[in-house]
Amino acid sequence: RPYCVVVALLLLAEVSRLGEGASNPGFVVRITRKGLEYARQYGMATLKKELSTINVPDLSGSFEVGWMGSVSYEFKSLRIRSFQIRNSDLSLLPGRGVRASLSNNYVSISGNWKVKKAFIGKKRGTFDLSVDGVSISIYLNLGEDGTGRPTASVAHCSNSVGHVSIHVSGNLSWILNLFHRRIENKLKDILKQEIWEIVRTSTSSHLEPYLRTLPVTLMIDQVAGIDYSLVGAPQVTSQGLDTPFKGEFFGRSQRSPVPFDAPPIRLPQQHDRMAYFAVSQYVFNTASRVYHQAGHMNFTIRNEDSPLDFPIHLHTKSLGAVIPQLARLYPNTELELEMSPESAPFLMFTPGNVTCMPVMNIQAFALLPNSSNRKPLFQLRARTDISATISVSSGRVHGSLTPGSKLKLELKHSNIGFFNVQLLESIFNYYASYIIYPSLNAKFEKGFPLPLPRDTYLNSLELQVHKPKVLVSALIGFLF
Ligand SMILES: *[C@@H]1O[C@H](CO)[C@@H](O)[C@H](O)[C@H]1NC(C)=O
Ligand SMILES: *[C@@H]1O[C@H](CO)[C@@H](O)[C@H](O)[C@H]1NC(C)=O
Ligand SMILES: *[C@@H]1O[C@H](CO)[C@@H](O)[C@H](O)[C@H]1NC(C)=O
Ligand SMILES: *[C@@H]1O[C@H](CO)[C@@H](O)[C@H](O)[C@H]1NC(C)=O
Repeated sequence: RPYCVVVALLLLAEVSRLGEGASNPGFVVRITRKGLEYARQYGMATLKKELSTINVPDLSGSFEVGWMGSVSYEFKSLRIRSFQIRNSDLSLLPGRGVRASLSNNYVSISGNWKVKKAFIGKKRGTFDLSVDGVSISIYLNLGEDGTGRPTASVAHCSNSVGHVSIHVSGNLSWILNLFHRRIENKLKDILKQEIWEIVRTSTSSHLEPYLRTLPVTLMIDQVAGIDYSLVGAPQVTSQGLDTPFKGEFFGRSQRSPVPFDAPPIRLPQQHDRMAYFAVSQYVFNTASRVYHQAGHMNFTIRNEDSPLDFPIHLHTKSLGAVIPQLARLYPNTELELEMSPESAPFLMFTPGNVTCMPVMNIQAFALLPNSSNRKPLFQLRARTDISATISVSSGRVHGSLTPGSKLKLELKHSNIGFFNVQLLESIFNYYASYIIYPSLNAKFEKGFPLPLPRDTYLNSLELQVHKPKVLVSALIGFLF
């Protein structure tokens, strides 16, 4: 049965620097009261199913009937005919945990009875039992197991059983009716014990395994993985349940400590969705660091990369028009460009926009016809504004880059003397638009997955932009 949950994706850049430093999460999932209400319905349906399977053990004993002496009895084949949950509630106990309570429930049980008495022999019949006012309170503790996985355990469970009434039919049923109080009390105790057992096993066999399907690390591609271990126990607040994930990209070949801290994440006071996924800049910046280190932001552009219809080629015949000394020094020579960012480019979340201002170094070489060596010609520094679009689909966060401003060039070093770099700007802009952006976007297109437990699928998306808080919020529905 598909369940639809509405969640939001928030991109947060918290400016406050007063954090706990390295232990701040890069990623927080908040399940709001609305989300918990949804979880309650799902949980109650599961619990109800489990409670209906309570295996009530056979019950036997004996009692003294004044003039008749001792009578032994047996109640067998006890079967829960129905377990009705009339009221259920899930409440948040800030700083402590979650309480689930089921009250005013009704159980009906049927079975067979048998009594044995020396001179009357064995008699048997059937009985129906109804139990009113069954109430169960379960206190759940949510934690983290030390390896970054979530845990759930029942801290305390109390239950009470209200009124039990038993109707026995058959010959000699009047004997049992004399003792119905004692039998009812015995059954009450058995039920309480069984309910507690079901609650405990449901938590350990349904809830905890489900939570443990949350991924701790996910591999993105050959280069990077993402660490989704919990950096702390899920926090219960009056708003909901906040689960802090590390949200850190790491290099698959070699993992080194990230030289910057995750900023503190403060979630906005929003509660109209069932869940909010808050992603801080940290996630994107650790990704940038890993791909930068792996050389995935270094580009070599050769003449064969420029389309035939492009009027200017990476050739001294072509560029000589812009840099006259080039044609003189290296007549009829192909050129090659190496582009690399000066440092890992970081994304910045500003109200309504995600931007990046990379500084690229561009080294130009002449490919000498008579040698395998390249002759370094000049080095440029290029600055630009890039605007990034973040989106979510199928449980993955995707990004795409679009040029925000034209490249601004500056001559850093030249082996061929001074020339006017402004004249090169349109050529380099062309290479950026037709070679670099498409290549980066092809990488970002795959995106990275959100930490979702088993059988959770995202199925719709809506983006909202919030101010003045730096926050992009996406509306997602998912099924589980
Ligand atoms: C009660 O006992 C009588 C005689 O032993 C028998 O005929 C009758 O069927 C019994 N009734 C039930 C409900 O067992
Ligand atoms: C990327 O290019 C820069 C500049 O040429 C170089 O220093 C760096 O080592 C390159 N990175 C990788 C991983 O190849
Ligand atoms: C977002 O960036 C674009 C391009 O730089 C700019 O035109 C726009 O005004 C920015 N929007 C906001 C809300 O700052
Ligand atoms: C290669 O050609 C360049 C320019 O044509 C010239 O200056 C250089 O001396 C040549 N080098 C060798 C090793 O022939």
